[in-house]
Amino acid sequence: MPFLVLPCPVMNIDLSGQVAIITGAGRGIGKEIALTFAQCGSTVVLAARNTDQITTVASEINDAGGKAVSVETDVTDSNAVGKMIEIAMEQAGRIDILINNAGASYVANLVMSDDEKWREVIDVNLMGVYYCTKAVLRHMVLAKAGRIVNISSVAGLVGAAYNSAYASSKAAVIGFTKSIALEVAKVGITTNAICPWHLDTELTKYTMGARGKMFGKSAEEYLQQLASDSPQQRLITPEEIAGLALFLVSPQAKGITGQAINVSGGAVI
Ligand SMILES: NC(=O)c1ccc[n+]([C@@H]2O[C@H](COP(=O)([O-])OP(=O)(O)OC[C@H]3O[C@@H](n4cnc5c(N)ncnc54)[C@H](O)[C@@H]3O)[C@@H](O)[C@H]2O)c1
Repeated sequence: MPFLVLPCPVMNIDLSGQVAIITGAGRGIGKEIALTFAQCGSTVVLAARNTDQITTVASEINDAGGKAVSVETDVTDSNAVGKMIEIAMEQAGRIDILINNAGASYVANLVMSDDEKWREVIDVNLMGVYYCTKAVLRHMVLAKAGRIVNISSVAGLVGAAYNSAYASSKAAVIGFTKSIALEVAKVGITTNAICPWHLDTELTKYTMGARGKMFGKSAEEYLQQLASDSPQQRLITPEEIAGLALFLVSPQAKGITGQAINVSGGAVI
């Protein structure tokens, strides 16, 4: 799909002149959001721990006529997050949108859980959202405008056996989303969460591989079983999550804030 063909090919949403920070944008859902937003005219700031991946995505966007900057960032490090926001302001001059997408998972029977690995998931999925939102809000409040979208999970609503750190962090992100939405509603900022069901990404491959081992199945068999048991008998796609994120940052979604929206193909209703 060509870049900068306006009106935007998706839902006629024009993000020209806007700057979006997307964490964990090197692959999976974050990459798809970055490509979609860039196609709709936004400058995208790609922040992730893996520099190779975000550099490649940024080149893809810039080579196609879009605008992208990649900034190596560990979202669990508040100093690194502060530096990333400084670079975004220096290079792009403003921050209109934050997509808190970076995420991690740890599959283990709770009794056997490693404390450090459990805490690391909370650090990435919750503290990372806290650090990035806190740092970005300073600019959004001054601008009296902004859109924040947190990629939570249906696991935060219904739980996930053998994945308690993940489900706990994602539930916390929903509480955080609602709290911040209330805090900043009067200054024109919206904050929402998207709760996807399973997609076929690297994160899922790890999670399903670890779960599959517990039940004598391969990651693929485990995932196929989940898909065929779901009401729509399929997995969710990154494009669906990017499409909803795009709508939530658009002017049409001005009145939507403090929501946690499921994209689950009916698996969670
Ligand atoms: N894949 C699914 O089925 C699914 C379902 C529900 C929710 N989610 C959520 O969607 C988001 C994206 O997931 P995905 O499936 O694309 O996963 P992914 O593993 O493909 O991508 C996650 C990205 O986060 C980055 N990241 C991890 N730790 C980081 C850190 N400390 N600092 C900066 N970046 C870091 C990784 O480098 C990677 O680029 C996650 O928050 C995940 O929990 C995924």
